[in-house]
Amino acid sequence: MAQSDHDSLRSSKAAALAGNIDVPGDKSISHRALILGSLAIGRTHISGLLEGADVLATKDALVALGVPIVKTDDGDWQVDGVGMHGMVAPKAPLDLGNSGTGVRLLMGVVAGQNITAIFTGDASLSSRPMARITTPLAAMGASVTSREGRLPVTVSGTATPRAQQHISTVASAQIKSAILLAGLNARGTTEIIEPHASRDHSESMLRHFGATVTQTIDDTGQHLVTLAGEATLYAAPVIVPRDPSSAAFAVVAALITPGSNIVIPGIGMNPLRTGLLDILVEMGGNITRHNERQEGGEKVADLHVKFSPLHGITVPAARAASMIDEYPILSVAAATASGTTTMLGVAELRVKETDRIKVMAEGLEKCGVSVTYDDDSMQVTGGSIAGGVTIAAQHDHRIGMSFLTLGLVADQPITVTGCATIETSFPGFASGMSKLGANISGVSA
Ligand code: S3P
Repeated sequence: MAQSDHDSLRSSKAAALAGNIDVPGDKSISHRALILGSLAIGRTHISGLLEGADVLATKDALVALGVPIVKTDDGDWQVDGVGMHGMVAPKAPLDLGNSGTGVRLLMGVVAGQNITAIFTGDASLSSRPMARITTPLAAMGASVTSREGRLPVTVSGTATPRAQQHISTVASAQIKSAILLAGLNARGTTEIIEPHASRDHSESMLRHFGATVTQTIDDTGQHLVTLAGEATLYAAPVIVPRDPSSAAFAVVAALITPGSNIVIPGIGMNPLRTGLLDILVEMGGNITRHNERQEGGEKVADLHVKFSPLHGITVPAARAASMIDEYPILSVAAATASGTTTMLGVAELRVKETDRIKVMAEGLEKCGVSVTYDDDSMQVTGGSIAGGVTIAAQHDHRIGMSFLTLGLVADQPITVTGCATIETSFPGFASGMSKLGANISGVSA
């Protein structure tokens, strides 16, 4: 049986990793390409789309909203946009599975259409906060009902939303993007201020499709985004770079496994996504970028990573937005580093697919690592990894991949249950890592 057929995987001490690993397309950019292609006039071609469960859930929801989307014979995707007012009410609830990005961005889309849709998701998504999205969308004119700010959520949109200025207390690309998508049909200018710049793929891609979007960052790091309303989007080809958040697992695996030397080609290098790479270099990591280029409006490079003894550092809160999905794998690197790594300003980790501070801390402690944490910070002190334990992924792909990575340097194997969740962002993770020399194998129930 292939590894991907097993829901439980076991990772054991590995010899040096070597060679290349292909990681799949960027999840954030894939969602946005499908969504903007759907709202555009004309046919959008997308190459390199991530065909993970999260993105496919967004694709299915858009099809249910009346958008023809097909995969072509050459493996690309083709979206026949219905224009800014062309969506239809779905006949059944839109089930976004595990995908926070999918559900939140699509709520923004529906808020700007004269239709009603019910949004649902899996157990993890149903426990995540939605008021941070539905409150600003209601202020723009949508009618929203929810189960105490959680899914299921019903959004009745309006073809003429009100342009608003939204001041966000958290740097969240999902909040920002939902408001921008609703603002496309508003009369006037939509403005969003976030305390630090979150990933700006929506802004870049909106411009690529013809919208007028500005971005300004002030001296304190505050990010102002404006969007001119009553926009018309025009189909534009999208080349999706490979996902730096998925590459992160191979990067850390090579840094911590003695003797390793690997190449990860074609990784997106948007500066608002590369916080982890900068931190790992500061920790002593030998990571170099080669063949830097622009592809489809995003910076891309080949990463060359060699085993490096790492030392602990303090990661300031101002870095959090640029590496928000990477703290689980950073804490794995920290667990093997000399000294203590302190991660500050990470409260947002509590509302991801799991409470990632708690789940990482408990799992690392089980593996023999010393961890302390509170609501907004985590401290990991490196040492040897005992392992010999079973960790539940708990519907969180990044928790699953982080502990499988840690298993490569543990004295005894680490077993991870619930690995099907890895399909949400990184189909082929176990086989790709095994090709590099990792010992990751399926465990029969
Ligand atoms: C994403 C934004 C981030 C990130 C998520 C993807 C996006 O969430 O954690 O995996 O594509 O916009 P927040 O914006 O809520 O921090």
